[in-house]
Amino acid sequence: MSPQSSPPRYTVPGLSTREGGRMIDLLSMRLHSLNDLALTLKHIHWNVTGPHFIAVHEMLDPQTVAVRDMADSAAERISALGGEPRGTAGVLVAERTWDDYSVGRADAIAHLGALDLVYTGIIEDHRKAAAKAASVDPVTEDLLIEHLRSLEQFQWFVRAHLENSAGALSTADAGSEKQAAEAAGPSRTTPAKKTAGTKRAAKKVTAGKRAR
Ligand SMILES: [Fe+2]
Repeated sequence: MSPQSSPPRYTVPGLSTREGGRMIDLLSMRLHSLNDLALTLKHIHWNVTGPHFIAVHEMLDPQTVAVRDMADSAAERISALGGEPRGTAGVLVAERTWDDYSVGRADAIAHLGALDLVYTGIIEDHRKAAAKAASVDPVTEDLLIEHLRSLEQFQWFVRAHLENSAGALSTADAGSEKQAAEAAGPSRTTPAKKTAGTKRAAKKVTAGKRAR
């Protein structure tokens, strides 16, 4: 469910209140994505196991801090535009268009396979939001581009762990987080076993884009 706000009573100079309202709606979904990503990064930080535990455990904390800062800047832009940033868990769950991160306690590289898909979702949607902002409010566009620089760098950090000897991503054919985790994890020399769960997940992803 997308946020449906009425235009603000006032907004930044140079924009109409209708334009300000469009930017508030757009930023509200980006705020949900960033808050969700920050929670997901901590969840992974707590649940990684295996030989790469400490490297991945420690790599994720600076990403969490940076993503929380991005959420803060998105929320404060909403306020500057005359809107109401809503940062509670209940509103996030009610308005988001994606499912919870689906991997629990698991091998560190398996988690990175799933996290790659998470980053892809949020980066694609941040890029779409930046493109929409471009013709209305270059300040909001600039904010989202600034986020994208770091988000794409963080995804590179993740993907550097997923490259095989041919330089391809081990998770290239994965359609769900669980499939990506299986493809990236330590058992990747054997084909991923199709379970009822992975079949359901693949069907769901095929049925609708997993936006973040
Ligand atoms: Fe910690």
